[in-house]
Amino acid sequence: MTESNNIESILSSDVTIEPPEAFRAKARTSLESYQEKYQRSLDDPQGFWGDIARELHWFTPFEQVVQWDPPFARWFDGGTTNICYNAVDRHAEGARANKAAIIWEGEPGDTRTLTWRELHREVQRFANVLRRYGVEKGDRIAIYMPMVPEAAIAMLACARLGAIHSVVFGGFSANALRDRILDAGAKVVLTADGAWRRGSVLPLKEAVDAAVTECPCVEHVVVLRRTGNDVNMTEGRDVWWHEAEQQVELTCPAEPVEAEHPLFILYTSGTTGKPKGVLHTTGGYMVGTYLTSREVFDLRDDDLYWCTADVGWVTGHSYIVYGPLLNGATIFMYEGAPNWPEVDRFWDMIERWKISILYTAPTAVRAFMKWGDQWPAKHDLSSLRLLGSVGEPINPEAWLWYYRVIGGERCPIVDTWWQTETGAIMLTTLPGAHHMRPGYAGLPFYGVDAAVVDEQGNPVPDGTGGLLVIRRPWPSMLRTVYGDDQRYKDTYWSKIEGCYFAGDGAVRNAADGYFEVLGRIDDVLNVSGHRLGTMEIESALVSHPAVAEAAVVGRPDDLKGEAVVAFVILEGGRTGDADLAAELKAHVANEIGAIAKPEEIRFTGALPKTRSGKIMRRLLRKIAAGDEDFGDTTTLEDPSIIAQLTAKGF
Ligand code: WTA
Repeated sequence: MTESNNIESILSSDVTIEPPEAFRAKARTSLESYQEKYQRSLDDPQGFWGDIARELHWFTPFEQVVQWDPPFARWFDGGTTNICYNAVDRHAEGARANKAAIIWEGEPGDTRTLTWRELHREVQRFANVLRRYGVEKGDRIAIYMPMVPEAAIAMLACARLGAIHSVVFGGFSANALRDRILDAGAKVVLTADGAWRRGSVLPLKEAVDAAVTECPCVEHVVVLRRTGNDVNMTEGRDVWWHEAEQQVELTCPAEPVEAEHPLFILYTSGTTGKPKGVLHTTGGYMVGTYLTSREVFDLRDDDLYWCTADVGWVTGHSYIVYGPLLNGATIFMYEGAPNWPEVDRFWDMIERWKISILYTAPTAVRAFMKWGDQWPAKHDLSSLRLLGSVGEPINPEAWLWYYRVIGGERCPIVDTWWQTETGAIMLTTLPGAHHMRPGYAGLPFYGVDAAVVDEQGNPVPDGTGGLLVIRRPWPSMLRTVYGDDQRYKDTYWSKIEGCYFAGDGAVRNAADGYFEVLGRIDDVLNVSGHRLGTMEIESALVSHPAVAEAAVVGRPDDLKGEAVVAFVILEGGRTGDADLAAELKAHVANEIGAIAKPEEIRFTGALPKTRSGKIMRRLLRKIAAGDEDFGDTTTLEDPSIIAQLTAKGF
């Protein structure tokens, strides 16, 4: 009881926590050096970013650091480089050659370690496999794989050749995969027979088969044997990874590419029914992920760094694969679920491998909290020295639990705000340099000119909520929406004149200028740290023959952050029941993936609309949350529908 009272009082007093002294004494960055570098990054971006970029290898030096023709940026023009060369080859000779690059543990408990030299060899060999199947610079490759070292090898091999990867999270359905393959026009798909998830097999190849049947652009599918389940192999199209590797050479030089050569496409949800292909290019993304990984995680050669994300999300791209490897850091990768075979799997691995940096999501922290302190208490977590959080706002209660129970009050926490679009961390504290304020991400990273503004673009006073914007270009920013420059302009650069609009609301603290990110203010949900568009789920629902109309909103959820609630009108005045609700949930899982399944479906005869016909989402959100104060409903066309909407769903 005292414990929770204590937390309550801490939470209400809006505390700050100084960095632990032992960490501060050895930290990379001090408060003064942050201030000095941050100022330089704004006053002299060319000098600042040019110096950082020159720490990496360029086949041809760049001539200009940044060229800004709003809203299109070019970074490091005139230079040629290769991110795979920088992330792998640079470390494969010399002192790091026999150091581990990747330490991996599969869900069943099998393990694998790849030294830098081995990683170098594997990446080259697989790049030769890609070449053998006709992959050339600029070709798009879809990657739909489990969390195994080959997923990282595949991404790096694409980059080595200048091919553009599009990684699709293994939890997306065959239909979602098909849409992404088609949008990118992918020529080759890389997959596995299956992935391990809580002791059973997720049949990835089966989903690829269903997707590819409708994708004429796909010429080959390369299949890694992972789970050993039976799969169909289509003659002439499908090849086994291990067999293809037997037929190629072991060396493959990295292709020099222009700094602005596309590196990858990553689809993310927005406010329309169709996910956007966020496009990142080589040079700027490389420099941004390199610097943020080093500074935010205080990376050292003897660290064992673990980011628990999946490579299917941007966090996996920037902070499992590219950023840490660019720094020569040893990464830990885990294939499976956090609660398999028991809910202490993470703590068990941290103890066994002596992991020193843990970067995870608030939704995971809240689940661990619920499972109980006794699970981490069974393990020695003293190898940890730094903790990170990403993906959604972390509530101060979860923050404090993470700090005390996992970090033993010894490890600073970096709460990092960024997005698929930003490519790299934008708001954070630097460990050791800055105090922490639970619930607040912190300050802008180098080169980031962040502000909180009103709808007209005027900065709002500190302590007042507003829209989070970035006022100048940064190296790792998205370059466009793949194949749709107009959508890029409209979505990100049109709401607030001259600014990148992130889609999040934020408040700046008057005392220290720290940013608190409040969450999305557009129709994007954040469910367990995963971005889902309400429109995307609505269009999945209306694609079911029984559904006439649907409106989807988020309901606050203690564990997931938000849960999906769908209000559904059926065709022909049909009435819904539990069976149909289950069928509709399965339909959404089939259209998008299990992550998008509504938690609750409420059947209704009508949706609350204004007299001009707009769905009143504000009202639906209140109804879904069980809030009885509906505010002003006088604009409602038919006030009698409230009773239907508040009835319990399925
Ligand atoms: C949210 C994930 C608060 C935010 C890297 C953003 C956060 C969206 C934080 C991007 C944080 C991410 N505090 N909110 N530290 N980090 N978000 O593209 O709403 O999957 O717009 O990128 O996650 O999600 P995405």
